[in-house]
Amino acid sequence: MPDTRIDPIDDPADPADMLGFGLGLRHQHYQEIADTPGAVDWFEALSENYMAPGGRPLHWLDRLRRDYPMVLHGVSLSIGAVDPLDMDYLAALKALAQRMEPRWVSDHLCFTGHAGVNLHDLLPLPYTEEALAHVVQRVQRVQDVLGRRILLENVSSYVQYAESQLSEWDFLVAVAGRADCDILLDINNIHVSAFNHEFDPRAYLAEIPAARVKQIHLAGHLHCGTHIIDTHDHPIVDDVWGLYADAIRRFGMIPTMIERDDDIPPYADLVAELDHARATASRALAGRGAPA
Ligand SMILES: [Fe+2]
Repeated sequence: MPDTRIDPIDDPADPADMLGFGLGLRHQHYQEIADTPGAVDWFEALSENYMAPGGRPLHWLDRLRRDYPMVLHGVSLSIGAVDPLDMDYLAALKALAQRMEPRWVSDHLCFTGHAGVNLHDLLPLPYTEEALAHVVQRVQRVQDVLGRRILLENVSSYVQYAESQLSEWDFLVAVAGRADCDILLDINNIHVSAFNHEFDPRAYLAEIPAARVKQIHLAGHLHCGTHIIDTHDHPIVDDVWGLYADAIRRFGMIPTMIERDDDIPPYADLVAELDHARATASRALAGRGAPA
């Protein structure tokens, strides 16, 4: 059984990392974001949407980044794939990061293709020692190229591998510790996978080292009765708010953002949902240390 407890991190939290409460930057809201400053603390931009030179997206990114802290979030790194790392993609990501100076760069602990075919999905890995060693050396290579520590996000999943030796959370913790990368913890993804695979989401939270968690994602999903699909097209449900409160109690105040990728509501609706996140986090922190 591989040792998942190698984790030399002892960095104190950087005050500049305390971004507050953010939203995903979506083109439907560009103008309203510019017209209503202060409603949101920061934005997460999807890396792939801003890699092409010129055009409207990059114009808006350049404009809004003057007023808001930004982070970059990608979906194409395919850190767990067997195919070689896409060095052209990494060069484009590095150029974008140099242009917009994000507070950090993240992607997913998954693979998105095989043998040159992009499957356009965030597919889970087998949680084995072989996969662990493979991912760790690729994360180290990516961090060397980018010249910075990256964040990896836990994905939601619908299948598991018979070969897996580790739990998902032990695999995530081992990757972060051995590769010295940070964690983007998606609370909705934990909830979705916990329901689909019948594990305890709070056992997951309990095993994640607080010092590695630099960002939290919240999102809505589609509950199909027998399983949950991670659609990002609904408001956040009460069970996820409850798990988020537990996460804040465990990790402290972590920069939190809401992902909405489909059926995009008016900006004001997302700002209101984000205000609910602020209130939930404040209540969780106020209750920290109080008797359960
Ligand atoms: Fe996410």
